Amino acid sequence: MLRATTEAFEMPAAITTIDAHQNRYRRIRAEPVSGVVGARVDDVDLAALDAETVGELRHAFAHHGVLVFPAQHLTPAQQVAFTRHFGEVEQHPLYRTATLPEQPEILVLEHKTGQFINGRNDVWHADITFAERPPLGSVLYCKDTRSGFGDTLFCSMGAAYEALSPGLRKLLDGLRAVHGAARMVARNNAQTYNLRIDDVPDEVVHPVVRTHPETGRRMLFVNPIYTLRFEGWTEAESQPLLDHLYAVATRPENVYRHRWAVGDVVMFDNRALMHYVAVDYAPSVHRLMHRTTAAGDRPR
Ligand code: OGA
Ligand code: MN
Repeated sequence: MLRATTEAFEMPAAITTIDAHQNRYRRIRAEPVSGVVGARVDDVDLAALDAETVGELRHAFAHHGVLVFPAQHLTPAQQVAFTRHFGEVEQHPLYRTATLPEQPEILVLEHKTGQFINGRNDVWHADITFAERPPLGSVLYCKDTRSGFGDTLFCSMGAAYEALSPGLRKLLDGLRAVHGAARMVARNNAQTYNLRIDDVPDEVVHPVVRTHPETGRRMLFVNPIYTLRFEGWTEAESQPLLDHLYAVATRPENVYRHRWAVGDVVMFDNRALMHYVAVDYAPSVHRLMHRTTAAGDRPR
């Protein structure tokens, strides 16, 4: 249905936020890559950072949600050290096996040449929200790819919340949601090339709207793979409203789509975004990422 043309146009809050924080730094330049989420930071060597640069990167990360650092050269140990500036580096609770033997904090995400599609992340999600303390964020370092294939998409859950009516925001402010890994585990185990996961951790409950601990911004905190239902509601009752929230959150205007080049480091705020991997790579495409993850707090 077309929107009524009489509706007044309001500048989305996210655009004003990004303008306010553009280029306020002394050591870095953070150039926004879309209207609502993401900034590119050129001319910084993540293997050699001083304290002032780290402080500015932490601020830019909290306010932009995604930071893109092109043309980096990091050893596994340097990637872990960089990640530690944002939080304790932690391993994945379920995918322990696909790690670098000499650096177990690094999760290896690989689509091998000749392999048929590894579709595990081609669904909008935030990482590990079935945990009591889901990750703060992850660092993805592109070791190999064919540019234009396997893009990663990010959407802003702060801008999504701000796009809702006051009435719906008020309803959601009072709700909590149940999160669990059962759907992800079923998806994983349906593909024979994935390592089987046998244990499904207990379900947890998180607020549906959380407050960003560094910016104070209110953000939706639900996602299609791990959010099972609203607390006290049935799945059938919950799903239509959840689907509406996902549709708002993933509108094209609310998404930054990253096209990878070898050497890119992209870090994303897992508290404030959902992400999605476009699984459009042919068997001839080798895609290799090294991922590290910083631990987060309990959502509140
Ligand atoms: C993940 C993920 C993104 C990518 O590791 O959780 O979604 O681009 N990966 O591979
Ligand atoms: Mn993910």
